[in-house]
Amino acid sequence: MSFCVAVLLSGSGSNLQSLIDATQAGKLDVDIRLVLSNKPDAYGLERARKAGIPTAVVSHTDFSSREEYDTEMVRIIREHQAEAVIMAGFMRIITPVLLNAFPNKVLNIHPALLPSFPGVHGQGDAADHGVRFSGCTVHFVDAKMDNGPIIIQAVVPAFNKDDGESLGARILRLEHRIYPQAVQWLAQGRLEIQGRKVVVLDAGNQPSVCDDGQGAYMVNPPLEDF
Ligand code: GAR
Repeated sequence: MSFCVAVLLSGSGSNLQSLIDATQAGKLDVDIRLVLSNKPDAYGLERARKAGIPTAVVSHTDFSSREEYDTEMVRIIREHQAEAVIMAGFMRIITPVLLNAFPNKVLNIHPALLPSFPGVHGQGDAADHGVRFSGCTVHFVDAKMDNGPIIIQAVVPAFNKDDGESLGARILRLEHRIYPQAVQWLAQGRLEIQGRKVVVLDAGNQPSVCDDGQGAYMVNPPLEDF
């Protein structure tokens, strides 16, 4: 039986799409049981419907506390029998209510090389800072924002002419590679948390270093089939 996940999002859902595409290509062994958004107009909901995935909208404006909001999310996620929670552009801070319901089974993707540039403008903050490299990070979620143990990172160059949009586009392309990979490792039971560090069992020990014509990037641990 496939590993069952729920995807949380707030917007376009291109990362959701990369997960859907990877499952349809037979590379990612997960069953996306639910896509949940806090915004009724999130395009990610449309992507889910097109793929035949059940959707739910839980609007945070209907709840008086983050804990009450998360309690309702946990109820719906459990109702759909998901065992892990994949945050894909879900622009809300979650509480221990959700984390304790799915211990070590909540992942997030962030468009910067954490712990640099946490928050909601990771791409623009990095571009404005004048960094020479940025990238994206998939990590386990803990009680602090953009803080939990890091599973995989991808690095791309940043240039003086970049703004958040151009750098963000370069990063997003890699998000779509590393997130399905990280979720596949989770589904395969290959992620072991040891303090702040994550061991990916049987992963290669040299990063993927590549220039595929669309630009140079580096990914560590190396990508397998993604
Ligand atoms: C992605 O770039 C994701 O890394 C970012 O939101 C975007 C969602 O895009 N998440 C954060 O900034 C979390 N702090 P998508 O809806 O097209 O997947």
